[in-house]
Amino acid sequence: MKIPLVDLHAQYETIKPEIDAAIQRTIDRTAFILGPEAKQFEENFARFCNVKHAIGLDSGTAALHLAMMALNIGAGDEVITSAHTFIATSEPIALLGARPVFVDIDPRTYNLDPNKLESAITPRTKAIIPVHLYGQPAEMDAIMEIARKHNIPVIEDAAQAHGATYRGRSVGTMGLMTCFSFYPGKNLGAYGDAGALVTNDDELNHKIRMLRDHGRTSKYEHEISGYGFRLDGIQGAILDVKLKHLPEWNAARRAHADYYTELLSNVDASIVTPYEPAYVKAVYHLYVIRTRQRDELLEYLKARDIEAGIHYPVPLHMQPVYKNLGHQRGEFPETERAAQEILSLPIYPELAHAQMERVVETMREFYQKNKFKAKS
Ligand SMILES: Cc1ncc(COP(=O)(O)O)c(C=O)c1O
Repeated sequence: MKIPLVDLHAQYETIKPEIDAAIQRTIDRTAFILGPEAKQFEENFARFCNVKHAIGLDSGTAALHLAMMALNIGAGDEVITSAHTFIATSEPIALLGARPVFVDIDPRTYNLDPNKLESAITPRTKAIIPVHLYGQPAEMDAIMEIARKHNIPVIEDAAQAHGATYRGRSVGTMGLMTCFSFYPGKNLGAYGDAGALVTNDDELNHKIRMLRDHGRTSKYEHEISGYGFRLDGIQGAILDVKLKHLPEWNAARRAHADYYTELLSNVDASIVTPYEPAYVKAVYHLYVIRTRQRDELLEYLKARDIEAGIHYPVPLHMQPVYKNLGHQRGEFPETERAAQEILSLPIYPELAHAQMERVVETMREFYQKNKFKAKS
């Protein structure tokens, strides 16, 4: 039996009647764009994040885009983010005409290294976007202190970290705005594209609600130019059902991460399991190990029907799309080393102990064969 990286069908099976009813209800109401289901979800998600406003959008990328638009970021500006993230974090920066400025990572957490942040700030820096990668909160106290000192707004990218906490605070409560993705495979995933932006700021809330809906103030009045970046009613209804289950799903992911770490403790000394500081609660969107034999191990697992992944194999500063930024290999050494060594093992709430045991036993077999090869 194949062990997938993520199994969305297994989750649907556990909540099918609730989901089917929510979809049917939305169709009966023909509330396809925003509407009461989406509004209900916005209210519940704001409460979940412990913030005043949640704005339902059609993707996490749209949330990042609108966060920066709301701050009037454009040509000549710079926005700082991690060199090790999904391209959607930096894409809107460049699309708005600003320059993405990358910072290397802390090799233990894979998140932006605050010790390298201040030297990246210039008078043109208009925002800092820490990413809570893999569900692990970024080092927010140190980042916020530097941002405050320079009076630069912080936008959290929490696309992979719904429900994670940092020193008892939820992600989404520390930056000026926070962007979430509900891409289907995320900890809280829709059945299509969806996202949200959360904030405690009333003015930004008002502006972003206009920006997501063609700058509307009423049906036929448009105060500013915006987009059609609204949350679909059906996605809102699905997300509202799934939000109720998120705490138990996140708890299951954390328990799986502990079990993997325990199982992996005696497989091979070269394997590095995830590091979680005592003051954070990561939600393990991904369970990422590192090993020097990453590519061979990935192939070995794949050949035995175990799906692993690499998030992400090409650092942002090495992406062809950013050739114009003039970066060189070697500029962000921790990011580059991580890109060579990281491997994401299958993780999702419904994953069974027996499946994790098979993953780890297959890894043990790989390392034993390799040791033998190294000796002969
Ligand atoms: C770190 C990060 N930022 C942003 C995004 C963009 O979200 P979406 O795919 O919903 O546009 C994603 C997810 O794909 C992500 O993982």
